[in-house]
Amino acid sequence: PTQQRRYLIDGRIEEWKGPMIDVYSPVCVQKDNSVEPVYLGSAPAMDEETAMRALDAAVRAWDRGNGLWPRLSAEQRIQAVHAFTKRMEERREEIVRWIVFEIGKPRSEAEKEFDRTTEYIRDTLNAVKEGARSTARFTVEQSILAQIRRAPLGVVLCMGPFNYPLNETFATFIPALVMGNTVLFKPPKNGILLYGPLLEAMAECFPPGVVNTVYGDGPVVIPPVMRSGKVDVLAFIGSSRVADQLKKEHPHPHKLRAILGMGAKNAAILLPDVKIESVIDECLRGALSYNGQRCTALKIFFVPRDKGEQFVEAFREKMASLSVGMPYLDGVQITPLPIEGKSQYLQGLVDDAVSQGAAAYGGGYLGPLFLPAILYPVKKGMKAYEEEQFGPVVPVVPYDDPEEALDWIVESHYGQQASLFGEDPAQVAHFVDELVHQVCRVNLNSQCQRGPDVFPFTGRKGSAEGTLSVSDALRAFSIRTLVAAKEN
Ligand code: G3H
Repeated sequence: PTQQRRYLIDGRIEEWKGPMIDVYSPVCVQKDNSVEPVYLGSAPAMDEETAMRALDAAVRAWDRGNGLWPRLSAEQRIQAVHAFTKRMEERREEIVRWIVFEIGKPRSEAEKEFDRTTEYIRDTLNAVKEGARSTARFTVEQSILAQIRRAPLGVVLCMGPFNYPLNETFATFIPALVMGNTVLFKPPKNGILLYGPLLEAMAECFPPGVVNTVYGDGPVVIPPVMRSGKVDVLAFIGSSRVADQLKKEHPHPHKLRAILGMGAKNAAILLPDVKIESVIDECLRGALSYNGQRCTALKIFFVPRDKGEQFVEAFREKMASLSVGMPYLDGVQITPLPIEGKSQYLQGLVDDAVSQGAAAYGGGYLGPLFLPAILYPVKKGMKAYEEEQFGPVVPVVPYDDPEEALDWIVESHYGQQASLFGEDPAQVAHFVDELVHQVCRVNLNSQCQRGPDVFPFTGRKGSAEGTLSVSDALRAFSIRTLVAAKEN
């Protein structure tokens, strides 16, 4: 276990003397199936005053755009981020291990998360170089000579989610930094210890006040920071409910730019001519990778009524072959869930569906280890039909007409992505035309996903605000300003 008392404010690593938050691992099911708490360590339970000091350091380093960092050239900032990335790569093994034990992510996927992050940083730095070249150019239009510059926005509050604690925190942190903003950085509660190995590199690679860390209980430290009105950009990836609360805290909503990646309940529509045997593997991956704890996971399936049983049968068979266990073991696919009380919530969804006439295959749990379940037939009124389960429960809805699936998507509070499985080109084209007006990515015969990271990543309705990706994020964390002069 590690006591991580250190945090970074204004370029100085300080030692926290106050109360700590204990971090327990979901990797806690023993060989004899008993569940024993596994204590991983602790991190500062910061108070409001310290969080505000961190904010003030970021405000000073920004200094209304006159700070050292916002005034550096793109090339100088690239060098600093590059140096930081090299230091981060030296700590790969430690960070991967923390991901495995803090959030129960299978080791191979934790490695992928790390490598995807460093690749994302490199692609981002290349995109900045490219952008810097184009903004140096002048254009002449109607006798006006103009240069377009990209300017940073100010102080950014970055908060990432537990399911990609490194990757999706850095998906906003890195572009915010490299565009010249100063940052207040709050790691997720599950996924906090993995930042210990990065603290010194953050202190040494960036000028004082450019990166400041805030730890602790979100509801204690974040609302005062937002209420101060000093945050210019809220970059938050997590639930729609928390995102709404945070935005509301800001006293001048029109002064705040929000870059939000929120909830989703992506639907898979299996069209009437679908060949179940050809799509079942992709459906399984879409629903159950990292235990369905991805905002992009397929969280509801619409299947033709006459193929419903066949789909459920094929899914059950594949589901039974998944290897269940602790995430440090080779080849394990279903692992314990880090959010407290999650197994009970998921079992509640299963029980609710069963009490309303659905059959459940699978389910049940040992502490945080929930066994995947498929529910059929799911219908309106069941919780699994409405709620974003964010876990390994798979609701399957039979339809008589595929338009019913479309109606569900139109009514949904979310609008991130959808998957369409089928062969008839005319029918696929019809549904694509409909879906592009409801979601932001339609996946043909394939699962929903964020990558590759150069693709724009966003959503409609309660799923997102702003767009992320290598290049979109650079736009999100900056503004195009013109210097224009009339030619004589
Ligand atoms: O949890 C939300 C993530 O953006 C999902 O990313 O599709 O690469 O797993 P992914």
